[in-house]
Amino acid sequence: MNQENSLLKNQAFIDGNWCDAKTGNSFVVENPATGEAIARCALAGETEAERAIQAADKALNGWQQLTAKERSVYLYRLHELLLEHQEDLAQILTAEQGKPLPEARAEIQYGASYFKWFAEESTRIYGDVIPASSPDKRVICIKQAVGVVACITPWNFPNAMLARKIAPALAAGCTVICKPANETPFSALAFGELANRAGIPAGVINIVCGDTEAIGEALTSSQLVRKLTFTGSTSVGKTLAAACAKTMKRTSMELGGNAPFIVFDDADIDSAVQALVQNKFRNAGQTCICANRILVQNSIIDLFADKLSQAIQTLNVGNGLSETVSIGPLIHREAAQNVQAIVDDAINLGATPLIQATKSLVAPPFIKPIILKHVSNQMRAFKEEIFGPVAPLIRFDTEEEAIRMANDTRAGLAAYLFTKDYSRSWRVAEALEYGMVGVNDSAISNEMAPFGGIKESGQGREGSKYGLDDYLEIKYMSFGDTTAG
Ligand code: SIN
Repeated sequence: MNQENSLLKNQAFIDGNWCDAKTGNSFVVENPATGEAIARCALAGETEAERAIQAADKALNGWQQLTAKERSVYLYRLHELLLEHQEDLAQILTAEQGKPLPEARAEIQYGASYFKWFAEESTRIYGDVIPASSPDKRVICIKQAVGVVACITPWNFPNAMLARKIAPALAAGCTVICKPANETPFSALAFGELANRAGIPAGVINIVCGDTEAIGEALTSSQLVRKLTFTGSTSVGKTLAAACAKTMKRTSMELGGNAPFIVFDDADIDSAVQALVQNKFRNAGQTCICANRILVQNSIIDLFADKLSQAIQTLNVGNGLSETVSIGPLIHREAAQNVQAIVDDAINLGATPLIQATKSLVAPPFIKPIILKHVSNQMRAFKEEIFGPVAPLIRFDTEEEAIRMANDTRAGLAAYLFTKDYSRSWRVAEALEYGMVGVNDSAISNEMAPFGGIKESGQGREGSKYGLDDYLEIKYMSFGDTTAG
């Protein structure tokens, strides 16, 4: 990566200024593909988190008092700046996260799209006039910003996950404190630099990386923080939700998935295979919505497995900074070891590994794509979110059986089904207990659609016209005496 990259910032961003941690401490951020240090980053803690909360609170009134149109101008500027600096941002993202450069470039566009979308939506935050209960009353509802928002984001999409929290928050009139994952702080800190270049008032966006526990405690316990939005694992989501209950904060939780990908025997098999490869191996399988359990109808499972085996041979594993690579490393060695343990568990319990992609580095954190046949609901590969390039195939006979197996999980984020039968596509899509369902479609993420899950995959929606609601309170105003005098 070009060390002259002007978006590579390594201090906390508080109240419009860059600052070191008061302790002077910092931590090393490594490139997962090489293990080499990219740079050190200031290790913020409670002190910096408190300062960031104070700054966000101080900036709140001024930001809320702007007209929606004025706020939208800032969001449009951020959208333009993200696209203008797409290459520098993609280089930072791949260096710290590992995903191949083309995917990193696509992520920057994806993240930028939320700023444009919410720049537009921000000018359409309408209220209601409600028929009153008596002739002299007038009743209206207005929508107002929730207030100061804490955004805690993961390492798998370090730009887009933050973008889809900051953009609606700012559009609604909220100010934010961001705590990105320590594996990928630089993609997040770049937002600070771009916020300054966009002229966004000091304190509206604050970013602190470092001591996760201390920062998390400061954010969840503060009375000034009125909402917490989190993307990450279900277990951490539950801990944060419990901590937020003490101050009755609003929460949005985008948590883990266990996506079924159902292929019926009347599906276009080639399209289904292609859709699966794009979906399953995006970001080396480190995606909450990627296919986790591939349910294939009995009569086509062998053909499907053959075609899938052929398709994955074209995947090239290696350093994401090389333009020829299609699958980068996992985020760290432990992640790869965990994926390997899930594969070993399946094989020990009777699954058959099919051909793995060739031309690959093999040592963790790299891991070759693998197909597992004869997977059952007793195996970890069925029960857990794999978060790696492993495609477990599970056979089914009937539509009812497929639906039952697909819903046999506490997760409820994304599901996919492939069929040419129009009635079946409606029937099955409605029966699946998931927040998002792709029907003959595996690329379901975009700024116009409501991203989010049900059951233990969380609550709230990001993106779409619904995405603003999570950052708005409804105020009902009843005017009496309107007909007097
Ligand atoms: C995620 O893995 O949490 C997000 C994936 C996406 O937005 O497509």
